[in-house]
Amino acid sequence: MSPSSQRRLHVAIIMDGNGRWAEQRGLPRSAGHVAGAQAVKRVVRAALALPISDLTLFALSSENWRRPRAELDAILELLHRYLESQTASCVANGVRLCVIGRRDRLPCELLAAIEASERATASGGRLTLRLAIDYSSRDAIVRAARRFNVQAALGEPRDGFGQLIAHDDRMNGDVGDVDLLVRSGGEQRLSDFLLWECAWAEIVFTRRMWPEFGGAALKHALDVFHRRERRFGGIDAVDSAASGRSRRPA
Ligand code: FPP
Repeated sequence: MSPSSQRRLHVAIIMDGNGRWAEQRGLPRSAGHVAGAQAVKRVVRAALALPISDLTLFALSSENWRRPRAELDAILELLHRYLESQTASCVANGVRLCVIGRRDRLPCELLAAIEASERATASGGRLTLRLAIDYSSRDAIVRAARRFNVQAALGEPRDGFGQLIAHDDRMNGDVGDVDLLVRSGGEQRLSDFLLWECAWAEIVFTRRMWPEFGGAALKHALDVFHRRERRFGGIDAVDSAASGRSRRPA
């Protein structure tokens, strides 16, 4: 079956294990992030050949600011370089790149690169590549709750709460429900990533460190996903569509 004939999935990934991968090799942690950026390229390439419509990657959490400045600078620099080097390839491959998370604490040059990439790739319709940078899901939920209250106080027609989260101006377009959440690096937690959007996500934890992740690992996670029966709180699989064994009821 060709990818376009299958239901298309939202896959989100917590890219964990860069630091340990480097330390195990006697390398500085920043080397793990450099290798992690290579893994991002492999995974995006692989996603284009799979029935994936959305790929959301957790690149920097709002808690990561507690890390040593040198490590943060290395990650921010890698993000900048990634945007500068990959935008043309995103345009050529129909990838729409967008960033979710706070923007007010990012360096100006990174912010400019984000805005340039988002503009250049805006018409990409094959894959939405969403990078979560300075992202906190709790923060997104709290902001939506505040807007919900403001709408009520002003007597405006109220949006659904889910819509308010999706349309947060920091979210840059709908994030939408996650079908499959993958976490590399062996830990088994959500780390404040897409808490609302993962309400019905299937979760795959792998011990593989992120720098060792690639197309085969992504394909394996999708195979696991396809074998899961999704019931969304009911007792029967709702639909045995080609991607995943069930579909969320309308
Ligand atoms: C978590 O591993 C990873 C990060 C905090 C940074 C992720 C950044 C990249 C993959 C590179 C740049 C990203 C892009 C999109 C080009 P960790 O350092 O917490 O690993 P550890 O748990 O082993 O310490």
